[in-house]
Amino acid sequence: MNSAYVWIVLTSLFSSLFFLTILALLCFFTCRLASKWQFSFGRSFGKAWTGGMIKMKVTAALFISFSCLACTILSKPNFPEKEKQPSYWNKWAQRTLEEALDLQELNKNIAKNLILFLGDGMGVTTVTAARILKGQLSGETGEESQLEMDRFPHVALSKTYNTDAQVADSAGTATAYLCGVKANEGTVGVSAAAVRSQCNTTFGNEVTSILKWAKDAGKSVGIVTTTRVNHATPSAAYAHCVDRNWYSDGEMPSEAQAAGCKDIALQLFENIPEIDVIMGGGRKYMFPQNTSDVEYPREHKHSGTRKDGRNLVEEWKIRMAHKKGQYVWNRKDLLSLNTNNVDHLLGLFEPGDLPYHLERNKEMDPSLTEMVEVAISILRKNAEGFYLLVEGGRIDHGHHEGKAKQALHETVEMDRAIHLTGQMTSMHNTLTVVTADHSHVVSFGGYTPRGNSIFGLAPRLSDVDQKPFTSILYGNGPGYKLTNGVRENISTVDYYQNNYQAQAAVPLQYETHGGEDVAVFSRGPMAHLLHGVQEQNYIPHVMAYAACIGQNKNHCPAALNHAPTLAPPILLAFLILIGLLC
Ligand SMILES: *[C@@H]1O[C@H](CO)[C@@H](O)[C@H](O)[C@H]1NC(C)=O
Ligand SMILES: *[C@@H]1O[C@H](CO)[C@@H](O)[C@H](O)[C@H]1NC(C)=O
Ligand SMILES: *[C@@H]1O[C@H](CO)[C@@H](O)[C@H](O)[C@H]1NC(C)=O
Ligand SMILES: [Zn+2]
Repeated sequence: MNSAYVWIVLTSLFSSLFFLTILALLCFFTCRLASKWQFSFGRSFGKAWTGGMIKMKVTAALFISFSCLACTILSKPNFPEKEKQPSYWNKWAQRTLEEALDLQELNKNIAKNLILFLGDGMGVTTVTAARILKGQLSGETGEESQLEMDRFPHVALSKTYNTDAQVADSAGTATAYLCGVKANEGTVGVSAAAVRSQCNTTFGNEVTSILKWAKDAGKSVGIVTTTRVNHATPSAAYAHCVDRNWYSDGEMPSEAQAAGCKDIALQLFENIPEIDVIMGGGRKYMFPQNTSDVEYPREHKHSGTRKDGRNLVEEWKIRMAHKKGQYVWNRKDLLSLNTNNVDHLLGLFEPGDLPYHLERNKEMDPSLTEMVEVAISILRKNAEGFYLLVEGGRIDHGHHEGKAKQALHETVEMDRAIHLTGQMTSMHNTLTVVTADHSHVVSFGGYTPRGNSIFGLAPRLSDVDQKPFTSILYGNGPGYKLTNGVRENISTVDYYQNNYQAQAAVPLQYETHGGEDVAVFSRGPMAHLLHGVQEQNYIPHVMAYAACIGQNKNHCPAALNHAPTLAPPILLAFLILIGLLC
């Protein structure tokens, strides 16, 4: 690169910065001056009507109009100058078209690895808002930026309803996208023949998950979540339970236990005995009742909950002692692991769910991205590949509490983990799917201008009650608030704070899920099969097909067909029969 060129660029950069500063200062002072004059103009209007006064006022008025014009032009939320050029948009579209043309060459490889990212409650509104937030966090206007999931080449829509519910919950949906079968609300790992909370409807109605299919095929398997590891989403990967709330036997009715039903924590360790990586929260469900928690020894609510007196963590440690097993309960221990020496990892970082990303204790609580990095480092050591379920589980909780900022930061953090995964794996042998279980009744709108803070106000007051409103609002939830019988005037409220609850149309303690379809983003082998508008339970069927595991393996090379086939013995018998006859 020649130095003259650098010189020209630098000088022009500096001079334009200089002029911009001068212009901004000029405008600032004119505006200040103008507003003062306007003030005195208004006050003295009725007093002095001398000719000189009027002349001065007219000049002032002209000056005010001029400076106001300048102020509006300069303060108008701007967009990048380059966007005025048709060539900018044409080139962008043409580049995208070229990439799309490459996609005609389908990736029909066999997926060695499968990764499912599940944003709990991450509807399309949440995805768009998180994209804008991510862009704005790095100083852009936001709308034009791309999430990592936006870069995935294939997208489908998933119909989320449960067999018994139009608007779904996280348990029935988890059964769909993990076990391939739609199910009732509140149930995990059982078909729709099982009735919620009725223990005796469990038996004979169990359905298995893609995590088990992968394990049976010799792959390593893992679960990483920001909720309890026995929460609805992860539990459908290993448990068969008619009630998602049976976290431990301490939460189960005694009749259910007497009828032979097992709590979800126990099933985590017993159903698929060697889930290679388990990370998230939920420590208290693994320890005997009243055992004080290692991190919060003085808080009784965090103590163990198990009535059977079992210490599931200790039992796991004993089982894994000779299998390079490690148990960790804080971030420091997690990050100091040498993953070459760890084949099995149990990480339980909180008694319940992990804290929101924005409120995380950076010493004690790993981020989702950090957990995913460790998980993949361990799982990818298996030459047969792996299946990993990653849940951004608290997007859902942010919305339930009406705290959009928490929900969106959770989403951005999950997107960081997706980005990292892309760097640690190859799309040639890894199928990555990003989706949600269901949506939420969050919306954003209000004719906000380009680059408006995603947590900011719509540009105009309501033309009905003359009060401002935020762009993000909820259909229902805890943000419903009347003051003196009318909608709150949020002018004096800090709607940028982390826990601000956006206004809702209907008061509810917990905002509800939304019923519309959610997106399915996919990248890697057979990703193109996730297309169109599909039932949610289609997802694991595609993932299993891509990896040559599960029920549909006719397209797979013989070496991968682990299931014994009947053809050779029948053929042999036929040949022997012919030999005998001849
Ligand atoms: C299952 O249990 C319920 C009570 O929870 C009872 O009403 C029902 O009769 C039982 N069904 C069978 C087949 O035992
Ligand atoms: C746990 O503590 C509660 C009250 O503190 C007590 O009622 C209960 O018996 C204790 N359980 C065990 C197993 O010690
Ligand atoms: C809302 O509050 C702001 C600031 O206190 C005030 O200027 C405005 O008049 C209020 N609007 C209504 C409609 O009460
Ligand atoms: Zn929810």
